[in-house]
Amino acid sequence: MKLYRGLYAALAGLLAVSFALTVYFMIRGVQSDAGLAKSSEYVRPHYHFVLIPEEMDNPYWRSVQKGADAAAKKYGAVVEYRGPVQSNLSEHIKVMRESVAAKVDGILTQGLDEREVAVINDAIQHGIPVVTVDTDLPGSRRLAYVGTDNYAAGLKAGRYLAKATGGLAKVGIVTGSFESTGQRLRVKGFRDAVAEIPGIEVVAVESSQISRVQAAEKAYKIFREHPEVNAFFGTSALDGIGISAAAQSLGQSKTVFLLAFDAVEDTLTLMKDGKIDATIVQKPYEMGYESVRLMVEIVNGKPVTERHVTPVNIVLPADLPLSRKAERR
Ligand code: BGC
Repeated sequence: MKLYRGLYAALAGLLAVSFALTVYFMIRGVQSDAGLAKSSEYVRPHYHFVLIPEEMDNPYWRSVQKGADAAAKKYGAVVEYRGPVQSNLSEHIKVMRESVAAKVDGILTQGLDEREVAVINDAIQHGIPVVTVDTDLPGSRRLAYVGTDNYAAGLKAGRYLAKATGGLAKVGIVTGSFESTGQRLRVKGFRDAVAEIPGIEVVAVESSQISRVQAAEKAYKIFREHPEVNAFFGTSALDGIGISAAAQSLGQSKTVFLLAFDAVEDTLTLMKDGKIDATIVQKPYEMGYESVRLMVEIVNGKPVTERHVTPVNIVLPADLPLSRKAERR
């Protein structure tokens, strides 16, 4: 009898201890979960997009990337920024192909050249949505475009240059590339605008491959071959900077009218110093932001408008405090 009583007591004791231990560990578990939620703000992104610029370290494209990252943060996406180190169509297409093979959730790409159409269509065929940014390829199956109306921007540039030079100018154009659809449209818009003005003549068009060094070389060439040139239009983000370097070294900075494109830091500094007269400013940050926002709508099956044209403005040195603020965002 005594033996049974002892056994019961031992069993009851064991049960009490194991109950107490269970309660203790349950409470600790709840506490540590709460701690985890507090200590880490990490939220797993829902979508993986790729943004393919014309060239990685170009300050214009870095602004597009900033906008894309801001939208990615808001909409729970991650944007992988990958592209050629220097403008190069085959590299560009290679990154697009790799993105298709990696089955990313969406591709945001500059619609640089007609030769990209096949790979864009292939992505769509594989169920990967594509949005073009900055430059469009309307002949492809891309779902939407976000960026400047490049023809209209060229027209605006031509009309402005004509006004600012009093309708009398021999113009040299340095353009980013003869192949890029966007650059071609800017030159065409410019030519169409000045074609109506008898005192304006385009004396030469050269390509910089979007490099400031080559822009300077091509500007030298124009100065050499057309000494009568008294105005320049640089149609991509670094062209104005290169043209200005050539004009300065030839002592022509004050006599030549220079219209640039975009508001990268060096352009703004040259404007402040009186070396660039005006610039056509696009909205790269907004392009990046809007294209990611649209892509999220697309992957969620929402219908979207095809063309999202971002505005361009003509910025003069007198406007600079405002445009500098805008650039820093
Ligand atoms: C154009 C881009 C180009 C960049 C090059 C910008 O003006 O919109 O298409 O890649 O210049 O610097």
